[in-house]
Amino acid sequence: MTTITTTTASTTGTGGGSRRAVGIRGEMTADDLAKYGLRDRWYPILPSRMVGSGEMKKVKRLNIDWLLFRDAQGVVHMLEDRCPHRSAPLSVGQHLGDRVACAYHGVQVDGTGKVVSVPGMPGCALEGKQATVSLKVVEAADTIFAFVPLTADSEPTPFILPDRLASPEHSWFPNYAEWAGPWRFYMDNVLDPMHGAFLHRDSHSMFAGDTSARFRIRETDRGFFFEKTDQRGKNFDWVEYVRGSMDYVDLEIPYAENAGPGGVFGIVGMSCPVDEHNSAIFHWRTRKVQGWEREVWRFLYRTRLEAKHWEVLEQDRVVLEVLADDADVDEHLYQHDLGVSRIRRIYRADAKKQAAILAGELV
Ligand code: FES
Ligand SMILES: [Fe+2]
Repeated sequence: MTTITTTTASTTGTGGGSRRAVGIRGEMTADDLAKYGLRDRWYPILPSRMVGSGEMKKVKRLNIDWLLFRDAQGVVHMLEDRCPHRSAPLSVGQHLGDRVACAYHGVQVDGTGKVVSVPGMPGCALEGKQATVSLKVVEAADTIFAFVPLTADSEPTPFILPDRLASPEHSWFPNYAEWAGPWRFYMDNVLDPMHGAFLHRDSHSMFAGDTSARFRIRETDRGFFFEKTDQRGKNFDWVEYVRGSMDYVDLEIPYAENAGPGGVFGIVGMSCPVDEHNSAIFHWRTRKVQGWEREVWRFLYRTRLEAKHWEVLEQDRVVLEVLADDADVDEHLYQHDLGVSRIRRIYRADAKKQAAILAGELV
């Protein structure tokens, strides 16, 4: 079931109205943005199950350290993991229900990033100040999402889940992995359906179909399809890249009859940069099934299919992790790589635009 809870947000503590990137204390160039992650979009941060009640969870995302914690109502908050006093990590402090206390001198910060108490000097000017970066968080599809703003002036866009995850007709299972590869390699990989017929040739789901194909790009009002022109419904034959409130890919892979009722296997995929070399990978494995078919699919998935899907995902991980850091320099691309070229162009343009905003050249 998809439940959505929203927390309030504040991005102060970043120079209030300045052109500094939120959570960054120096300059940020277009290259940095491309490396560490583009801003002004929603990202999946962590599966909900990984932040327990009373827990102080430290994560790195977009090259910044963050603290995730649930308040007494179970609502998740995401603060920069940096005390507004003298920058000790808040994550080594104490969880106090609706706030956290820094271990170093006891300063208390609530889920909105506001300093609520300075026990060493009650009444000092720091009290009441919005002094820690706090992101707007939504919990949905068993996942914690956050809007990562470019600057303190950035307005969070509406949170809209991918179609398959929002649809009551679909049943899904989330899947989370951490890969030692840059996030851009993940996007390149999913915009490259042809690897299904080679890398995954011996898998349970991508053994069929031709090993040669022609592709085309089909523009949509929310992104584009990259699809084979001469084969459909046999292998990984198409992918849609969607640029909505979050970037994601949507694709379908045919299932064999013994995979139970419900037709094709739908996948929604997203990645969140950890740092220059690592990414957090999120997939939701979906099927359009209802009633008893839904129960059969859920049973089959848990008992048999999930392990097979992990094997496929491992094939991707192994290749991406051995790619050189500069693997995307000096390539020899051909027609099958049009999707890869397109996504790179989109992200390069985004990075340049965001760098220009930071430099004050664009509003
Ligand atoms: S550094 Fe956190 S209270 Fe001093
Ligand atoms: Fe793959």
